[in-house]
Amino acid sequence: MAENEEHMHPSFMGVLKQKERVRAKLSGIKHKIGVYSAKGGVGKTTIAVNIAYTLSRMGYKVGLLDADIDCPNVTMFLGIDRMIGITVPIRPLEHNGVRVASTAMLVDEVKRPIIWRGPIITKMLGDFFENTEWGELDYLIVDLPPGTSDAPLTIMQLLDLDGFVIVTTPQRIASINAIRSGLMARRLGVSVLGIVENMSDGEASENAREVGRTLGTEKLFSVGRDQSFNAFSDSGRVAVVEDDGKYAEFRKLVGELLAAS
Ligand SMILES: Nc1ncnc2c1ncn2[C@@H]1O[C@H](COP(=O)(O)OP(=O)(O)OP(=O)(O)O)[C@@H](O)[C@H]1O
Ligand SMILES: [Mg+2]
Repeated sequence: MAENEEHMHPSFMGVLKQKERVRAKLSGIKHKIGVYSAKGGVGKTTIAVNIAYTLSRMGYKVGLLDADIDCPNVTMFLGIDRMIGITVPIRPLEHNGVRVASTAMLVDEVKRPIIWRGPIITKMLGDFFENTEWGELDYLIVDLPPGTSDAPLTIMQLLDLDGFVIVTTPQRIASINAIRSGLMARRLGVSVLGIVENMSDGEASENAREVGRTLGTEKLFSVGRDQSFNAFSDSGRVAVVEDDGKYAEFRKLVGELLAAS
């Protein structure tokens, strides 16, 4: 037992030890970036998937972790319909050059609702992170669920992320929730790398600028409203893989997002 462990509450010590095990498991990954907003439906999964496949097209080794435990959507966005089922260790699926793991792997039928209370969610996420074999990666992109409680909290505590991309939309409601999201991340010691205003009508809105000012980042990006995102995700195709214009747009965003500030 380490010198200071005897003074710790046993459950707190358990979290620290689990964090160590997760850290060891993810030690072959150079950068881990979360895509997050407390508000649902703003485009977290769309942005996460397209950032991951942009990085892959740029030549990096990339993993995509769907950590939305209630409603995992990444596999549907990618047209992966075979549910893998759970075998330990969990091996990510290779899809168009990107390694993908999803909490959807925990269920045997995609339409089955996951109805778990907080402690079970925390346990399942911890087990999932501890048992997934990513191997060596340049980037792991993590798609978070909405909300500011159990699931996002566990992800922030366990994954030791380099930082977050916070997603918002031109709507005031989205921007207020984006501010909450960034302030939560900061409280947990995770930095905000930049803000993506999704479904934008052009220039960054005043609401999005306020998010940037409050969270202390000048990296503010716009992704335009475009119905083709629906068509791509509904048919299990990725915009930046199929459409060179979309790739150019995300290539610029990713380049600026990851440039040292
Ligand atoms: N730029 C865009 N233009 C038009 N539609 C978009 C855009 N981005 C995302 N969408 C659509 O908005 C819907 C929600 O997107 P998405 O699932 O990525 O959001 P989310 O924040 O991950 O949602 P959840 O909180 O449920 O996880 C989807 O139907 C998606 O196709
Ligand atoms: Mg989502």
